[in-house]
Amino acid sequence: MRLDKLLSDMDMASRSELKKNIRKGLVTVNGEIVKDPSTALNGDEKIVYCGEELTYSEFEYFMLNKPAGVLSASMDKKQKTVIDLIDCRHRKDLFPVGRLDKDTVGLLLITNDGQLAHELLAPNKHVDKSYFVRVDADLDENDTAAFEKGIELEDFTTLPAKLEIKADSKNEAIVTIHEGKFHEIKRMFHACGKEVVYLKRLTMGSLKLDESLKEGEYRKLTEEELADIKKSVV
Ligand code: URA
Repeated sequence: MRLDKLLSDMDMASRSELKKNIRKGLVTVNGEIVKDPSTALNGDEKIVYCGEELTYSEFEYFMLNKPAGVLSASMDKKQKTVIDLIDCRHRKDLFPVGRLDKDTVGLLLITNDGQLAHELLAPNKHVDKSYFVRVDADLDENDTAAFEKGIELEDFTTLPAKLEIKADSKNEAIVTIHEGKFHEIKRMFHACGKEVVYLKRLTMGSLKLDESLKEGEYRKLTEEELADIKKSVV
């Protein structure tokens, strides 16, 4: 890969600024000043750009505990997005895998691995997603049965889903769905005559929200988490 492309992928600066700085001698590769922006690299060299050592990664994977009030998008002209919360040096092509509503909190995988994202979101893979949910009225076995059967919404009938009502709090539950349609959980409860007042995603496939992450915090996936989630969609 070209040196200027590699630096651009890691979002160090605009391509033209990068070229200028490379030509000025502000970049070293394995300790040597390199002035040609088209220099071919493997990505495993020690690169220092304007005094900052950088680690190149072809793919990056972050687990974010999404807070409310932030959009699940890569970019937005007016509103803050989940990518704006990743404040460490990162690849410029990161995106969230799927969408949580603006007011939904919890687990969100952020990566630039399009293939993995595609597999996790593919409708035929039925990757399980579980949520903690609080609604505005008590739930009972009729709701559990309705979820188990699949709920008829205006435009489609949901796949069977699992509703586990909390023993000590009847308006709270863990819901597991096997698809990910727009506003699916809110619409399922609405169809049962209840409104969701709080929604938090806990799991996606084998990936579990790290409860030590406060809302708005993120961390890289561990190698084990990454291997497990990749395994779960092959
Ligand atoms: N279902 C919803 O209704 N909202 C979400 O954010 C996720 C699942």
